[in-house]
Amino acid sequence: MAYSSTFYLVLILSLTCNLFVYGCYTSIISFGDSLADTGNMKLLSIKSTGVAPRFAFPPYGETYFHKPTGRCSNGRLIIDFIAESLGMPLIPPFEAVSTTFDVTGLGQGVNYAVAGATALDPSFHEARGVYVKTNASLGVQLGWFKQSLSSICHSHLDIKRLLRHSLILLGEIGGNDYNHALESGKSIDEVETYVPFVVKAIISALNELIDLGAKTLVIPGNLPIGCSATYLTIFYGSNEVQYDNATGCITQLNNFAKYHNELLKTELNNIREIHPEVNIVYADYYNAAMQAFLSPQNYGFTNGALKACCGGEGPFNYNSSIACSDPLATSCAEPDAYFNWDGLHLTEAAYRFVFKSLFEGPYTTPQFRSLCPTSRFLFVGGLSSSI
Ligand SMILES: *[C@@H]1O[C@H](CO)[C@@H](O)[C@H](O)[C@H]1NC(C)=O
Ligand SMILES: *[C@@H]1O[C@H](CO)[C@@H](O)[C@H](O)[C@H]1NC(C)=O
Ligand SMILES: *[C@@H]1O[C@H](CO)[C@@H](O)[C@H](O)[C@H]1NC(C)=O
Repeated sequence: MAYSSTFYLVLILSLTCNLFVYGCYTSIISFGDSLADTGNMKLLSIKSTGVAPRFAFPPYGETYFHKPTGRCSNGRLIIDFIAESLGMPLIPPFEAVSTTFDVTGLGQGVNYAVAGATALDPSFHEARGVYVKTNASLGVQLGWFKQSLSSICHSHLDIKRLLRHSLILLGEIGGNDYNHALESGKSIDEVETYVPFVVKAIISALNELIDLGAKTLVIPGNLPIGCSATYLTIFYGSNEVQYDNATGCITQLNNFAKYHNELLKTELNNIREIHPEVNIVYADYYNAAMQAFLSPQNYGFTNGALKACCGGEGPFNYNSSIACSDPLATSCAEPDAYFNWDGLHLTEAAYRFVFKSLFEGPYTTPQFRSLCPTSRFLFVGGLSSSI
Protein backbone atom coordinates (compact mmCIF):
# COMPACT_ATOMS: atom_id res chain seq x y z
CA MET A 1 0.00 0.00 0.00
CA ALA A 2 2.73 2.43 0.98
CA TYR A 3 4.80 2.03 -2.15
CA SER A 4 2.57 0.85 -4.95
CA SER A 5 3.86 0.01 -8.39
CA THR A 6 2.24 3.20 -9.68
CA PHE A 7 4.29 5.09 -7.20
CA TYR A 8 7.52 3.46 -8.34
CA LEU A 9 6.63 4.24 -11.92
CA VAL A 10 6.14 7.89 -11.03
CA LEU A 11 9.44 7.85 -9.22
CA ILE A 12 11.31 6.23 -12.10
CA LEU A 13 9.82 8.70 -14.54
CA SER A 14 10.82 11.66 -12.49
CA LEU A 15 14.38 11.03 -11.44
CA THR A 16 15.44 14.34 -12.77
CA CYS A 17 15.47 17.88 -11.68
CA ASN A 18 12.65 18.67 -14.13
CA LEU A 19 9.51 20.20 -12.83
CA PHE A 20 6.16 18.58 -12.90
CA VAL A 21 3.55 20.91 -11.55
CA TYR A 22 0.67 19.19 -9.88
CA GLY A 23 -1.48 21.72 -8.11
CA CYS A 24 0.75 24.20 -6.32
CA TYR A 25 3.59 21.94 -5.31
CA THR A 26 5.79 19.63 -7.35
CA SER A 27 7.14 17.81 -4.33
CA ILE A 28 7.13 17.52 -0.58
CA ILE A 29 10.46 17.54 1.23
CA SER A 30 10.30 16.59 4.87
CA PHE A 31 12.73 16.74 7.81
CA GLY A 32 11.93 15.71 11.34
CA ASP A 33 11.59 12.93 13.87
CA SER A 34 9.18 10.10 14.68
CA LEU A 35 6.17 12.33 14.12
CA ALA A 36 7.10 12.35 10.42
CA ASP A 37 9.35 9.29 9.87
CA THR A 38 7.76 7.04 7.24
CA GLY A 39 10.42 4.32 7.47
CA ASN A 40 13.94 5.77 7.67
CA MET A 41 14.78 4.64 11.20
CA LYS A 42 13.53 1.13 10.51
CA LEU A 43 15.77 0.83 7.44
CA LEU A 44 18.75 2.55 9.09
CA SER A 45 18.57 0.24 12.13
CA ILE A 46 18.33 -2.89 10.05
CA LYS A 47 21.26 -1.72 7.95
CA SER A 48 23.51 -0.79 10.86
CA THR A 49 22.64 -3.39 13.51
CA GLY A 50 20.51 -5.98 11.76
CA VAL A 51 17.82 -5.34 14.34
CA ALA A 52 14.55 -3.57 13.60
CA PRO A 53 13.22 -1.04 16.12
CA ARG A 54 10.16 -1.95 18.20
CA PHE A 55 7.86 0.14 16.00
CA ALA A 56 8.69 -2.13 13.07
CA PHE A 57 6.54 -4.85 14.69
CA PRO A 58 2.76 -5.26 15.05
CA PRO A 59 0.49 -3.72 16.10
CA TYR A 60 2.25 -0.70 14.56
CA GLY A 61 0.62 0.01 11.21
CA GLU A 62 -2.36 -2.27 11.90
CA THR A 63 -5.16 0.16 11.10
CA TYR A 64 -4.30 1.57 7.71
CA PHE A 65 -1.35 -0.32 6.22
CA HIS A 66 -2.22 -3.63 7.93
CA LYS A 67 1.48 -4.15 8.57
CA PRO A 68 4.27 -2.18 10.25
CA THR A 69 5.90 0.36 7.92
CA GLY A 70 8.31 2.03 10.30
CA ARG A 71 5.78 4.71 11.18
CA CYS A 72 5.35 5.29 14.92
CA SER A 73 1.58 4.93 14.82
CA ASN A 74 -1.20 2.51 13.96
CA GLY A 75 -1.62 4.22 10.58
CA ARG A 76 -0.92 7.39 8.64
CA LEU A 77 0.97 10.41 9.94
CA ILE A 78 0.38 14.12 9.32
CA ILE A 79 2.77 14.05 6.34
CA ASP A 80 0.71 11.23 4.77
CA PHE A 81 -2.49 13.25 5.10
CA ILE A 82 -0.76 16.27 3.56
CA ALA A 83 0.41 14.22 0.58
CA GLU A 84 -3.06 12.71 0.11
CA SER A 85 -4.75 16.10 0.29
CA LEU A 86 -2.43 17.46 -2.40
CA GLY A 87 -3.13 14.47 -4.64
CA MET A 88 0.39 13.12 -4.28
CA PRO A 89 1.65 9.62 -3.54
CA LEU A 90 2.79 8.99 0.04
CA ILE A 91 6.27 10.43 0.43
CA PRO A 92 8.91 7.67 0.56
CA PRO A 93 11.64 7.57 3.18
CA PHE A 94 15.03 8.65 1.86
CA GLU A 95 16.56 5.33 2.89
CA ALA A 96 14.12 3.38 0.70
CA VAL A 97 14.75 5.57 -2.31
CA SER A 98 18.50 5.60 -1.95
CA THR A 99 18.90 1.86 -1.40
CA THR A 100 16.32 0.59 -3.89
CA PHE A 101 17.44 2.71 -6.78
CA ASP A 102 20.94 3.62 -5.75
CA VAL A 103 20.07 7.11 -6.86
CA THR A 104 18.47 9.96 -5.05
CA GLY A 105 15.56 11.02 -7.16
CA LEU A 106 13.26 13.52 -5.61
CA GLY A 107 10.21 12.36 -7.56
CA GLN A 108 7.26 13.98 -5.86
CA GLY A 109 9.14 14.19 -2.66
CA VAL A 110 11.50 12.58 -0.22
CA ASN A 111 11.19 12.23 3.51
CA TYR A 112 14.41 12.64 5.49
CA ALA A 113 12.76 12.46 8.94
CA VAL A 114 14.23 9.88 11.33
CA ALA A 115 12.56 8.66 14.50
CA GLY A 116 14.52 9.80 17.54
CA ALA A 117 16.25 12.63 15.68
CA THR A 118 17.22 15.79 17.50
CA ALA A 119 17.45 19.35 16.21
CA LEU A 120 20.85 19.79 17.84
CA ASP A 121 23.93 17.81 16.94
CA PRO A 122 24.49 14.79 19.19
CA SER A 123 27.64 16.47 20.58
CA PHE A 124 25.46 19.02 22.39
CA HIS A 125 23.71 16.22 24.24
CA GLU A 126 26.81 14.08 24.79
CA ALA A 127 28.47 17.07 26.48
CA ARG A 128 25.57 17.05 28.94
CA GLY A 129 25.63 13.32 29.51
CA VAL A 130 22.47 12.66 27.54
CA TYR A 131 22.32 9.63 25.27
CA VAL A 132 20.81 10.29 21.84
CA LYS A 133 18.96 7.52 20.03
CA THR A 134 20.21 8.41 16.57
CA ASN A 135 22.91 10.58 15.06
CA ALA A 136 20.62 11.56 12.19
CA SER A 137 20.05 15.05 13.59
CA LEU A 138 18.51 17.87 11.60
CA GLY A 139 21.94 18.90 10.29
CA VAL A 140 22.61 15.36 9.05
CA GLN A 141 19.19 15.18 7.35
CA LEU A 142 19.87 18.50 5.64
CA GLY A 143 23.23 17.12 4.48
CA TRP A 144 21.47 14.13 2.87
CA PHE A 145 19.10 16.48 1.14
CA LYS A 146 21.89 18.65 -0.26
CA GLN A 147 23.62 15.49 -1.52
CA SER A 148 20.39 14.46 -3.25
CA LEU A 149 20.14 17.88 -4.87
CA SER A 150 23.68 17.90 -6.16
CA SER A 151 23.23 14.46 -7.67
CA ILE A 152 20.06 15.31 -9.61
CA CYS A 153 20.33 19.02 -10.34
CA HIS A 154 22.96 20.43 -12.67
CA SER A 155 23.15 23.97 -11.37
CA HIS A 156 22.20 26.26 -8.54
CA LEU A 157 19.52 27.64 -10.81
CA ASP A 158 18.06 24.15 -11.26
CA ILE A 159 18.02 23.73 -7.49
CA LYS A 160 16.27 27.05 -7.02
CA ARG A 161 13.63 26.13 -9.61
CA LEU A 162 13.03 22.77 -7.98
CA LEU A 163 12.73 24.22 -4.49
CA ARG A 164 10.54 27.11 -5.54
CA HIS A 165 7.67 24.69 -6.12
CA SER A 166 8.38 22.34 -3.24
CA LEU A 167 6.49 22.22 0.00
CA ILE A 168 9.10 21.90 2.75
CA LEU A 169 8.08 20.42 6.09
CA LEU A 170 10.71 21.44 8.61
CA GLY A 171 9.70 19.35 11.60
CA GLU A 172 8.28 18.74 13.97
CA ILE A 173 11.86 18.65 15.26
CA GLY A 174 13.27 19.56 18.65
CA GLY A 175 10.88 17.50 20.75
CA ASN A 176 13.54 14.81 21.20
CA ASP A 177 16.18 17.28 22.35
CA TYR A 178 13.89 17.64 25.35
CA ASN A 179 12.52 14.08 25.53
CA HIS A 180 15.93 12.42 25.64
CA ALA A 181 17.13 14.80 28.37
CA LEU A 182 13.96 14.55 30.48
CA GLU A 183 13.85 10.77 30.13
CA SER A 184 17.46 10.58 31.28
CA GLY A 185 16.45 12.35 34.48
CA LYS A 186 17.38 15.99 33.82
CA SER A 187 15.09 18.48 35.57
CA ILE A 188 12.55 20.50 33.61
CA ASP A 189 14.39 23.68 34.67
CA GLU A 190 17.69 22.42 33.31
CA VAL A 191 16.19 21.26 30.00
CA GLU A 192 14.54 24.65 29.61
CA THR A 193 18.01 26.12 29.12
CA TYR A 194 18.29 24.07 25.88
CA VAL A 195 15.37 25.87 24.26
CA PRO A 196 17.24 28.83 22.71
CA PHE A 197 19.81 26.41 21.24
CA VAL A 198 17.15 24.14 19.80
CA VAL A 199 15.28 27.06 18.25
CA LYS A 200 18.54 28.37 16.83
CA ALA A 201 19.23 25.00 15.17
CA ILE A 202 15.77 25.00 13.57
CA ILE A 203 16.19 28.60 12.37
CA SER A 204 19.62 27.85 10.98
CA ALA A 205 18.19 24.95 8.92
CA LEU A 206 15.36 27.21 7.80
CA ASN A 207 17.83 29.86 6.61
CA GLU A 208 19.83 27.26 4.69
CA LEU A 209 16.70 26.04 2.92
CA ILE A 210 15.69 29.59 2.04
CA ASP A 211 19.17 30.24 0.67
CA LEU A 212 18.81 27.13 -1.51
CA GLY A 213 15.59 28.58 -2.94
CA ALA A 214 12.74 27.27 -0.77
CA LYS A 215 9.62 29.40 -1.00
CA THR A 216 7.07 27.56 1.15
CA LEU A 217 8.10 26.07 4.46
CA VAL A 218 5.96 24.70 7.26
CA ILE A 219 7.59 24.86 10.69
CA PRO A 220 5.66 23.07 13.45
CA GLY A 221 5.93 23.93 17.10
CA ASN A 222 6.02 21.44 19.95
CA LEU A 223 2.99 19.40 21.05
CA PRO A 224 1.63 19.82 24.59
CA ILE A 225 4.10 17.27 25.95
CA GLY A 226 2.60 17.53 29.43
CA CYS A 227 -0.38 15.59 28.04
CA SER A 228 1.63 12.59 26.83
CA ALA A 229 1.10 9.26 28.56
CA THR A 230 4.88 8.90 28.80
CA TYR A 231 5.33 12.00 30.95
CA LEU A 232 2.11 11.47 32.87
CA THR A 233 3.57 8.09 33.85
CA ILE A 234 7.11 9.31 34.59
CA PHE A 235 5.78 12.04 36.91
CA TYR A 236 2.87 9.97 38.28
CA GLY A 237 2.54 10.42 42.02
CA SER A 238 5.38 12.92 42.11
CA ASN A 239 4.74 16.14 44.00
CA GLU A 240 7.17 17.99 41.74
CA VAL A 241 4.48 18.86 39.23
CA GLN A 242 0.99 20.37 39.08
CA TYR A 243 -1.84 19.25 36.85
CA ASP A 244 -4.16 21.39 34.80
CA ASN A 245 -7.67 20.64 36.04
CA ALA A 246 -9.25 21.14 32.64
CA THR A 247 -7.12 18.50 30.91
CA GLY A 248 -5.24 16.44 33.49
CA CYS A 249 -1.98 17.44 31.78
CA ILE A 250 1.24 18.46 33.52
CA THR A 251 1.26 22.25 33.72
CA GLN A 252 5.04 22.72 33.84
CA LEU A 253 5.68 20.59 30.76
CA ASN A 254 2.96 22.32 28.78
CA ASN A 255 4.40 25.69 29.79
CA PHE A 256 7.75 24.37 28.62
CA ALA A 257 6.31 23.52 25.20
CA LYS A 258 4.66 26.95 25.05
CA TYR A 259 7.99 28.61 25.84
CA HIS A 260 9.67 26.73 22.96
CA ASN A 261 6.82 27.72 20.66
CA GLU A 262 6.92 31.41 21.63
CA LEU A 263 10.65 31.60 21.01
CA LEU A 264 10.25 29.82 17.69
CA LYS A 265 7.42 32.14 16.61
CA THR A 266 9.47 35.23 17.48
CA GLU A 267 12.34 33.98 15.33
CA LEU A 268 9.95 33.12 12.49
CA ASN A 269 8.65 36.69 12.58
CA ASN A 270 12.20 37.96 12.16
CA ILE A 271 12.72 35.71 9.14
CA ARG A 272 9.42 36.84 7.62
CA GLU A 273 10.67 40.43 7.77
CA ILE A 274 13.96 39.54 6.13
CA HIS A 275 12.33 37.32 3.48
CA PRO A 276 8.87 38.70 2.69
CA GLU A 277 8.84 36.66 -0.55
CA VAL A 278 8.99 33.36 1.36
CA ASN A 279 5.93 31.68 2.88
CA ILE A 280 6.95 30.88 6.45
CA VAL A 281 4.07 28.86 7.85
CA TYR A 282 3.97 28.22 11.58
CA ALA A 283 2.02 25.06 12.40
CA ASP A 284 0.49 25.32 15.84
CA TYR A 285 0.60 21.67 16.87
CA TYR A 286 0.12 22.73 20.49
CA ASN A 287 -3.26 24.39 20.19
CA ALA A 288 -4.48 22.07 17.45
CA ALA A 289 -3.92 19.10 19.77
CA MET A 290 -5.12 21.02 22.83
CA GLN A 291 -8.66 21.05 21.41
CA ALA A 292 -8.74 17.29 21.83
CA PHE A 293 -7.22 17.38 25.32
CA LEU A 294 -9.84 19.90 26.42
CA SER A 295 -12.84 18.03 25.03
CA PRO A 296 -11.85 14.61 23.70
CA GLN A 297 -15.46 13.38 23.53
CA ASN A 298 -16.38 16.14 21.08
CA TYR A 299 -13.87 14.85 18.55
CA GLY A 300 -14.53 11.13 18.83
CA PHE A 301 -11.81 10.30 21.34
CA THR A 302 -14.28 8.53 23.55
CA ASN A 303 -11.55 6.92 25.65
CA GLY A 304 -10.13 10.32 26.51
CA ALA A 305 -6.99 11.83 25.11
CA LEU A 306 -4.48 10.83 27.79
CA LYS A 307 -4.38 7.05 28.00
CA ALA A 308 -2.32 5.20 25.38
CA CYS A 309 -4.01 2.63 23.17
CA CYS A 310 -0.99 0.35 23.05
CA GLY A 311 1.31 -0.28 25.97
CA GLY A 312 2.13 -1.94 29.27
CA GLU A 313 -0.84 -1.03 31.48
CA GLY A 314 -0.54 1.25 34.51
CA PRO A 315 -2.71 4.36 34.89
CA PHE A 316 -2.02 5.55 31.32
CA ASN A 317 -1.36 2.16 29.71
CA TYR A 318 2.28 3.12 29.38
CA ASN A 319 5.27 1.35 30.88
CA SER A 320 8.76 1.97 29.51
CA SER A 321 9.75 -1.64 30.15
CA ILE A 322 6.66 -3.07 28.42
CA ALA A 323 6.42 -0.85 25.36
CA CYS A 324 3.91 -1.20 22.54
CA SER A 325 4.74 -4.29 20.40
CA ASP A 326 6.27 -6.06 23.42
CA PRO A 327 4.59 -9.46 23.83
CA LEU A 328 3.35 -8.38 27.26
CA ALA A 329 1.86 -5.10 26.02
CA THR A 330 -1.85 -4.77 25.32
CA SER A 331 -3.45 -2.91 22.47
CA CYS A 332 -6.92 -1.40 22.45
CA ALA A 333 -9.64 -2.71 20.16
CA GLU A 334 -10.59 0.72 18.83
CA PRO A 335 -7.52 2.89 18.22
CA ASP A 336 -9.69 5.58 16.59
CA ALA A 337 -11.26 6.25 19.98
CA TYR A 338 -7.83 7.07 21.44
CA PHE A 339 -5.63 10.10 20.86
CA ASN A 340 -2.43 8.59 22.23
CA TRP A 341 -1.04 5.52 20.49
CA ASP A 342 2.02 4.27 22.40
CA GLY A 343 2.84 6.81 25.08
CA LEU A 344 4.65 9.48 23.10
CA HIS A 345 3.14 9.10 19.64
CA LEU A 346 -0.40 9.66 18.42
CA THR A 347 -2.96 7.42 16.76
CA GLU A 348 -3.83 7.82 13.10
CA ALA A 349 -7.16 9.37 14.20
CA ALA A 350 -5.26 11.95 16.24
CA TYR A 351 -2.87 12.74 13.40
CA ARG A 352 -5.84 13.14 11.05
CA PHE A 353 -7.48 15.47 13.56
CA VAL A 354 -4.31 17.58 13.94
CA PHE A 355 -3.80 17.59 10.15
CA LYS A 356 -7.32 18.87 9.54
CA SER A 357 -7.02 21.54 12.23
CA LEU A 358 -3.75 22.73 10.71
CA PHE A 359 -4.05 22.38 6.97
CA GLU A 360 -7.79 22.68 6.46
CA GLY A 361 -8.49 24.75 9.56
CA PRO A 362 -7.17 27.80 11.38
CA TYR A 363 -4.09 26.41 13.18
CA THR A 364 -1.40 27.50 10.74
CA THR A 365 -0.11 31.08 10.40
CA PRO A 366 -0.64 32.18 7.68
CA GLN A 367 -3.46 29.77 6.87
CA PHE A 368 -2.12 27.03 4.65
CA ARG A 369 -5.21 27.06 2.43
CA SER A 370 -4.67 30.72 1.60
CA LEU A 371 -1.28 29.97 0.00
CA CYS A 372 -2.62 27.71 -2.68
CA PRO A 373 -6.39 28.12 -2.87
CA THR A 374 -6.66 26.21 -6.13
CA SER A 375 -4.58 23.11 -5.44
CA ARG A 376 -7.46 21.01 -4.26
CA PHE A 377 -9.69 22.19 -7.07
CA LEU A 378 -7.03 21.47 -9.66
CA PHE A 379 -6.52 18.01 -8.32
CA VAL A 380 -10.21 17.19 -8.02
CA GLY A 381 -10.64 18.37 -11.58
CA GLY A 382 -7.84 16.03 -12.60
CA LEU A 383 -5.89 18.85 -14.20
CA SER A 384 -2.20 19.31 -14.07
CA SER A 385 0.16 21.49 -15.97
CA SER A 386 3.86 21.52 -16.53
CA ILE A 387 6.13 24.47 -16.89
C1 LIG B 1 26.70 8.24 16.94
O1 LIG B 1 28.02 8.46 16.51
C2 LIG B 1 29.02 8.12 17.49
C3 LIG B 1 30.36 8.57 16.98
O2 LIG B 1 30.55 8.17 15.64
C4 LIG B 1 28.93 6.63 17.74
O3 LIG B 1 29.88 6.25 18.72
C5 LIG B 1 27.53 6.30 18.25
O4 LIG B 1 27.40 4.92 18.41
C6 LIG B 1 26.47 6.79 17.28
N1 LIG B 1 25.18 6.61 17.90
C7 LIG B 1 24.15 6.09 17.28
C8 LIG B 1 22.90 5.96 18.08
O5 LIG B 1 24.18 5.74 16.12
C1 LIG C 1 -7.99 22.05 40.69
O1 LIG C 1 -8.62 21.03 41.40
C2 LIG C 1 -8.19 20.93 42.75
C3 LIG C 1 -8.81 19.69 43.38
O2 LIG C 1 -10.11 19.50 42.92
C4 LIG C 1 -8.56 22.22 43.49
O3 LIG C 1 -8.12 22.15 44.84
C5 LIG C 1 -7.89 23.40 42.78
O4 LIG C 1 -8.28 24.61 43.36
C6 LIG C 1 -8.25 23.42 41.30
N1 LIG C 1 -7.43 24.41 40.64
C7 LIG C 1 -7.94 25.29 39.78
C8 LIG C 1 -6.96 26.24 39.19
O5 LIG C 1 -9.10 25.31 39.46
C1 LIG D 1 6.12 -1.72 34.54
O1 LIG D 1 6.16 -3.10 34.46
C2 LIG D 1 7.07 -3.71 35.33
C3 LIG D 1 7.13 -5.19 34.99
O2 LIG D 1 5.85 -5.75 35.04
C4 LIG D 1 6.64 -3.44 36.75
O3 LIG D 1 7.56 -4.01 37.65
C5 LIG D 1 6.56 -1.93 36.97
O4 LIG D 1 6.04 -1.64 38.24
C6 LIG D 1 5.66 -1.29 35.93
N1 LIG D 1 5.77 0.15 36.03
C7 LIG D 1 4.69 0.95 36.05
C8 LIG D 1 4.97 2.42 36.12
O5 LIG D 1 3.56 0.53 36.00
